[in-house]
Amino acid sequence: MASSTTSKHSLAGRWLLGTICLAIVMIAVLIQPKINPPTEPPAETPPPVAERKVTIARVPDKVRYRPSAIPSRIILTWSGDPCTTQAVTWRTDSTVGQGSALAQLAIAGKNRDFAKTAETRVATTTKFETDLNLVHQHTAEFTKLKPKTKYAYRVGDGNNWSEWFHFETASDKPDPFTFVYYGDAQNNLREFWSRVLRESLRDAPKPAFLLHAGDLINDGTRDAEWGEWFDAGGWINGSVTNVATPGNHEYSGFLTKPRLSPYWRPQFAFPTDGPAGLEETVYSFDYQGVRFISLNSNQKQAEQVPWLEERLKNNPNRWTVLTFHHPMYSTAKGRDNPKLRDLWQPLIDKYRVDLVLTGHDHSYGRSGLLVGDKNQTAGARAQDKPTGTVYVVSVSGPKMYKLNQQPWMQTSAEYTQLYQVISIKDNVLHYDARTATGQLFDVFELRKNDKGVNTLVERDQLVQERIIDAVPTANAQMPLPMSVMAIGLLMLLASIGWGLRALRRGAAIR
Ligand SMILES: [Fe+2]
Ligand SMILES: [Fe+2]
Repeated sequence: MASSTTSKHSLAGRWLLGTICLAIVMIAVLIQPKINPPTEPPAETPPPVAERKVTIARVPDKVRYRPSAIPSRIILTWSGDPCTTQAVTWRTDSTVGQGSALAQLAIAGKNRDFAKTAETRVATTTKFETDLNLVHQHTAEFTKLKPKTKYAYRVGDGNNWSEWFHFETASDKPDPFTFVYYGDAQNNLREFWSRVLRESLRDAPKPAFLLHAGDLINDGTRDAEWGEWFDAGGWINGSVTNVATPGNHEYSGFLTKPRLSPYWRPQFAFPTDGPAGLEETVYSFDYQGVRFISLNSNQKQAEQVPWLEERLKNNPNRWTVLTFHHPMYSTAKGRDNPKLRDLWQPLIDKYRVDLVLTGHDHSYGRSGLLVGDKNQTAGARAQDKPTGTVYVVSVSGPKMYKLNQQPWMQTSAEYTQLYQVISIKDNVLHYDARTATGQLFDVFELRKNDKGVNTLVERDQLVQERIIDAVPTANAQMPLPMSVMAIGLLMLLASIGWGLRALRRGAAIR
């Protein structure tokens, strides 16, 4: 008996000794970088930017954004039917006046001979004084185009031409397509937003269009901010159509008389079918089986109700997507919009709008199938019903607000720059929200039955159906070294406990 007790005691002792050794090794691994700090950088390594003596002056905005006769800020939009029309705007200095701003168009060809068939059109020119320079803004409208056809165009004055760009008209049938949606870009556009826009094009290299849900810039009267916004898109804006709804930062003078940015209408050619005074901010267009509607949540919200009802009632498309800036259901504290909800949500419910894409709250929230009524305030739970609308609030720029977690949110995020790639094919709408690094963050599908009622299919079911890979969500991931360390620590604690218990038992028996 004494021999058995001694043997147990010695086994426990050895176990404890082993465990202590393991602990020492783990501690050594943890503090290793401190014991063995990185070697000093070689002498020729330049000092950090903050410590460097700046000798080169920053190029002033007035110089950086000075226009010339060479076309710049070239961007495609639609003011008419995407099957048969395309608008392009660009700017120059004042040497290119009315009558000398030209656009050439041809059906794109496999070699340069397409250019011989190009037709020339004269653009309309708007002159305005920015806070930096005098500029001329030009708009050319291509009309009577063939559906689902690839065209080439260039803009210029006869001597100073842009490169030839391609665009493709929409099909006149409900064909599958993909578009990308961005919440507020707004700040540090060149520095921190450009990467989001460009990353999104890796996932959606041939989008039908890019949709911006307002607050494209921070101060709509500053030419340098618009310059940064256009720099971020670069040549993409000349090849892919942009769609935008105005945010509060595209407005000034809210206390007196709201004034839309003087850049909005000259530099974007959007449809003018909205209520009087809201042209090119409230509009609709149909794209391959989907009706898209832009509302203006900044002003005259009540005046938009009859117009919205008419667009929703007389809609031959299978799908309907709304965009406006201020969210129907807010994701940040103290930013609720009950007036907007009372005015617009009854129509959204009545006409079964599928998706509402918004911004403004600089965080991310996505609902289930939400059906609201007057008793429901922001955050009222009404999801998981057999039909309803999915509401999204998102942000693509670097400015962030703290998230106010609420029951209506099926998925949410804060401090994350995102873009959304949305594809529509027949009776399925597939939605991917990805982070600035391209990681899948939120995903769902809407599946429409013959009666127009949607079923919302969430991530888990999509994984089961193998429609998406079983990758974890971006915010659910724990870095591998941390996971390994956590498991190691748990094993260590368990071993110490077992050893101590065995020792105590041995001592008691003795
Ligand atoms: Fe906003
Ligand atoms: Fe904003």
